[in-house]
Formats: sequence, C-alpha cells, structure tokens
Amino acid sequence: MEAGVRTHVVAHLPGDGIGPEVTAVARALVDQAGARHGFRIDWRDADLGAQRYLRTGELLPDDALAALRKADAILLGAVGSPSVPPGVLERGLLLRLRSELDLYVNLRPARLRPGVAGPRQGTGLDVVVVRENTEGLYAGAGGTVHAGTPFEAATEESLNTRAGVERCVRYAAGLAARRGGRMTLVHKTNVLTHAGRLWQRVAEEVAAEQGIVLDYAHVDAACLYLVADPGRFDVIVTDNLFGDILSDLAAALTGGLGLAASGNLNPARTGPSMFEPVHGSAPDIAGTGTANPAGAVLSAALMLDHLGERAAAGELESAVDAVLASGGATSTRGWADALSTRLGQAGDRA
Ligand code: IPM
Ligand code: MN
Repeated sequence: MEAGVRTHVVAHLPGDGIGPEVTAVARALVDQAGARHGFRIDWRDADLGAQRYLRTGELLPDDALAALRKADAILLGAVGSPSVPPGVLERGLLLRLRSELDLYVNLRPARLRPGVAGPRQGTGLDVVVVRENTEGLYAGAGGTVHAGTPFEAATEESLNTRAGVERCVRYAAGLAARRGGRMTLVHKTNVLTHAGRLWQRVAEEVAAEQGIVLDYAHVDAACLYLVADPGRFDVIVTDNLFGDILSDLAAALTGGLGLAASGNLNPARTGPSMFEPVHGSAPDIAGTGTANPAGAVLSAALMLDHLGERAAAGELESAVDAVLASGGATSTRGWADALSTRLGQAGDRA
C-alpha cells in the first residue's frame, strides 16, 4: 500500500440485469474521485445473483457472506431476473443480506435537483425517507395452510419489535437534528393499531428526548401530500413496506427511478453498509446501453460519505447535478463520459 493513501475495502456485487452496467460507471467515478482525494478502493468482486443461482443453485453461500462481512462497504447493482421465480433472489439474497448484516435503516433521499425538468420544480421537494429495513411485512413471518383447497389461506405478518422500531427512529431523529429539526412518522395508526401504537409511542419518546419536532401522517395521506404539498416533509420515518412504496413515489417526483439512490445502513457499524440504486435489474433494457447510471453513482456518493470521504461524495453529487443541469444524457456511456468530465473539472477547481 502506498504511504499516505487511505484504503477502503469495498465489495462490488453487480448482480443482475443492468446492475453490472450501472455499477461499472459508479466504480470508475469513485476511483477517479479517490485519485484526487487521496484514497483508493480495494474492490472485491462478489459473484452473486441470478447467474450464479442458475449455475450452482447457490444464493448466498457462507464463504461469500463471510467475505462480504470483511468489507468496509458493499456496492450493489440490482437483484432479480425473469429466469428465476419471483422472491427467490429477492428473499434469498437481498433481504437476507439486509438481515444478516443488520442493515436496519434504508436511507432514501429524494431531492428535486435543479436540472430535472417538469411540473414539480418549485415545490420544495427535498425529503429523506428513513425506511425500517429488517422487520415489518418483510420479516418473513407468515405462511400458507390448506394449500390446494378452496380455503387455501395465506398470511403475511408484520413484525415490529420495540428495539427494531426504536433504533430506526433514533437514526431518523439524529438525521432530523442535522437537517431541519423535524421528523414525520408515516404509518396507518388508525387501522394498524398494534404496530401503530408502538411506532407512535417510540417516535414521541425519541422526539421529546432529542428535541425534534414530530409530525404524523397516515400513509395514504402522505402519498397525497408528497404530490400536492411536499414542502411539509423533511425526514420521513416509516416501516418497511410503507417506506418501499413512499420512496418509489418520491423517486417518481424527483426525476424517476434512474436518479434514486439508497443506503442500506448498519448505523451501529458492526459490519459493512450496502449501497444500491433504488431501481431494479430492468431486464427489458439490460444490454441496450441505455440504463441511467446516476442512481448508482449517487448511491456510491452515499457510500463515500459513509466511509468518511465527504469531499469526494460531494463532488459525485455535484457532478450529477451539473450533468442534469446541462440536459442529462441518453445512454449509459453518455452519462459516464459527462460525469467523468464534470468530476475532472471539480478536481481542477479544488
Ligand atoms: C427495493 C426493492 C426491494 C424491496 C425488492 C427487490 C425486494 O423494491 O429495494 O425497494 O422491496 O425492498
Ligand atoms: Mn422498492
């Protein structure tokens, strides 16, 4: 290792569909930023996803998980393929990683960037959805009985633990303290009264303790407000399913899924956090060279921020803003070239 060069070990898990295409762009830009800012990434390739599963039947073997645990962070492309039945890769790889690595916060910022055209400009849309990421309806509780009869019954249970809710709300409150000092709990406490009461009580306790202003919106109303009056939101804290849905809506309002970034965080830092664009594997456009890598690049910026490389993270963000402001690009290559040029100019000014 060269003296004076900080090294971060990052597992690169490109996954399926457009995942490899968009993370290749993000990876090159991270290296470019590192060269300017005195760090290097020791990339470790993780061969997981549909192809490995179809080849070997393996989703997340122990040695692969052990290797991921040793990384400082994980950059993930996308998981999911039409050649594998729905749920196999999602549950067996993505959700398993979120749970094994205790990635209990899914951080999903959505900001209307200046270059994004459309009727939403001027609405003040700048929110961060803090989605609980290991519990709720995604915990895997439930099952099927009386299969194959007219009374076949399928249940999915929403798991909400005091500790799980509290650590997520604490993270959101900390984020709110660094931003506007406000946090909105989104739930459906008028119907989901058991989980709702727990979330409400914990949010009230944590907000009072941390001096945060707490608002509340039912999830259906929150969808309406996000479209009609998004300025009322800053940090939104919510459960796993509501956060999944709200973050797609927030993405649609801020330029589409192509731009949406996320961090699956282990805020306790007992292991690596995992960064991925919100979009899926988009098999319909895989290989066409048209995937937008901006969501992956912005996810890599979240990763650099998490690794303490704040200046480099800020430059990746600014590069995306600058490319958007000059009209964006229509191909993956076009985005990559434009972002690289902008990043180089940021370096020149520094
Ligand atoms: C997301 C995705 C995943 C989720 C799927 C692929 C399991 O939609 O990251 O938002 O629901 O969490
Ligand atoms: Mn989703």
